[in-house]
Amino acid sequence: MAHIETNVIHQGANLDSSYHSITAPIYASSIFAAQDLDQRPPFDYTRSGNPTRKALEDTLACLEGGALASATGSGMSSIMAVLLMLKAGDHLIAPQCIYGGTHRILASIIQKFGIEITFLPDLNNLERLRENIKANTKMIWIETPSNPLLHITDIKALSEFTKALNAKILLVADNTFLSPYFQKPLELGCDLVIHSTTKYINGHSDVIGGVVVSKTEALGTEIANYVNCLGLACSPFDAWLVLRGLKTLPQRMEAHQKNALKLAEFLGKQAVVKKVFYTGLPSHPQFELIKKQMSGFGGMLSFELDTEKADLNKFFQSLKYFSLAVSLGGVESLIAQPWSMSHASMPEKARIEAGLSPAIIRVSAGIENSEDLISDLKTALEACCSCC
Ligand SMILES: Cc1ncc(COP(=O)(O)O)c(C=O)c1O
Repeated sequence: MAHIETNVIHQGANLDSSYHSITAPIYASSIFAAQDLDQRPPFDYTRSGNPTRKALEDTLACLEGGALASATGSGMSSIMAVLLMLKAGDHLIAPQCIYGGTHRILASIIQKFGIEITFLPDLNNLERLRENIKANTKMIWIETPSNPLLHITDIKALSEFTKALNAKILLVADNTFLSPYFQKPLELGCDLVIHSTTKYINGHSDVIGGVVVSKTEALGTEIANYVNCLGLACSPFDAWLVLRGLKTLPQRMEAHQKNALKLAEFLGKQAVVKKVFYTGLPSHPQFELIKKQMSGFGGMLSFELDTEKADLNKFFQSLKYFSLAVSLGGVESLIAQPWSMSHASMPEKARIEAGLSPAIIRVSAGIENSEDLISDLKTALEACCSCC
């Protein structure tokens, strides 16, 4: 088995047997013709399958170490495809600190269909988990590191514990924050992995996309059926863009991580910063687990600004290289207030339970020069702060 740096480039290539193009062609066709009723082509209709999309799916299945993958039109549609495995009367457990859109789909859409949801503060608390697992519990959802506070769930411990109680409970991980370059949830005991490929997998902030990767063919076939029936798949052009972005995933992840660590160290020394949340800091309360479970720390960090001393709007207005924008994982640095942006759809009580407040700021470290990024933050902190 080749290394990830090789697989991101060579998996998904060699699609073109007519002209041997080096990159995967975009099969911009909604239909593929059959010879006759007995000789059906491998693809017939692009909602059900498309060669460019399959090249992306095969590559992502290979990177995550899964059997099958389905590439969808957004991270949310991947999440929806997984949730369609549940039926009325089933129960799902998820953490309180989770991407706001995932919370919204669970709390306000899925519950409408008679599926019970329990949000727990910490899925590492196995005794509390045991008390909440019921006969109808069918799925446990994890997001590790969590968005935006970088809580870590011990995937292996959770999987061993859950499967010993009931082997049929499906364990699903949102691996968006780390990508398969830094974490492989299927190897640690998950059944399904989802990504918003909008983020690091594509990496260039020009596509909305998602993927579900399954450990077994049976699970993957079920997901592919939902994707086909509901028309959740991504377009051939978007699949091609993601394939292109994916080729530099390892190099980008290293660069994101290098910058994130420098930004976290810088922020940790600022009087106006009350707390820094970053998986690469030895002060992270789960640093030992992080080093065991992840092969890198990633490019996401958050910090709590002392809003009694600093004016948030002045801070955001004074930044030159960090755009005040939702999303993450692109080559450009982004900054956001989860309270009013990525997590605004959560009821206030749920945001507070998740550990959020308006003073928490999330940073997606881009791959620009780190000195420029630090100097930008320094200038903005000086401009917004009455004491700096
Ligand atoms: C961790 C995580 N999962 C899923 C999603 C949803 O992905 P998309 O916006 O591509 O639908 C997001 C979006 O921000 C996210 O941060």
